[in-house]
Amino acid sequence: MKIIAANWKMHPLSEKEAIKIARASDATNAIIFPPELFLKSIKKVLKKSSLGAQDVFWENGVGAYTGGTSISMLVSAGAKYVLIGHSERRAIFKESNDIVMNKFVASYRGGMKVIFCIGEPWNIRREGLSAINAFMLGQLSSVFKKISRSEFDPSKIIVAYEPIWAIGKGKTAFPEDAEFAAQVVKKWFVKRYGSSPRVLYGGSVDSKNSRYFLEQPSIDGVLVGGASVIADEIKQIIKLSR
Ligand code: PGA
Repeated sequence: MKIIAANWKMHPLSEKEAIKIARASDATNAIIFPPELFLKSIKKVLKKSSLGAQDVFWENGVGAYTGGTSISMLVSAGAKYVLIGHSERRAIFKESNDIVMNKFVASYRGGMKVIFCIGEPWNIRREGLSAINAFMLGQLSSVFKKISRSEFDPSKIIVAYEPIWAIGKGKTAFPEDAEFAAQVVKKWFVKRYGSSPRVLYGGSVDSKNSRYFLEQPSIDGVLVGGASVIADEIKQIIKLSR
């Protein structure tokens, strides 16, 4: 079954609204990423979906890291997944490749499953396919240089291909281009590790366009942002995926 990952970002305002959205999203193939503040209450509501955190700090356990939340804290709140490398974290929170790498490695070694986001900005898109591939593979290399063949477990990793110019803009990649990107990513992993994790597409996915991505053979699901906090939208996207 294809995966529906719901990245709520900084939505909604109230716990009541969060619970309503979670109820509409509860399905065995869904992974829900609410704001950290709502993790525990959403955990109680979800009967089928997995729970994920939108961010984590790379030092585990406890420590003098003001504002930080560790992997063990997220796990005790019920989170199994964490989102790493999202373009909003990279651009707005100034997360460098090194920070992204630290978060990835700590989460992966700490036993969490990771959705690792990659994707090119518009200026790279304009240069064409080989520039896009080089950009994506550069983002993968910067993290996976730390993961040895013996340590690699594709069941603990999901890659989300999210072209930055499509995120929150109401325009998507062409499904065939997203399919091609997923193939490039999978080939890269197979060459390096002998097997590949699953690959999602993200960027302005909604109930009207999700089917075009879900029907692509190399795309294993979608990462939904804006539409995932509209109960009727996410319900419909999940319905179409089953
Ligand atoms: P969007 O966000 O669906 O609102 O474009 C996707 C994402 O940022 O993960």
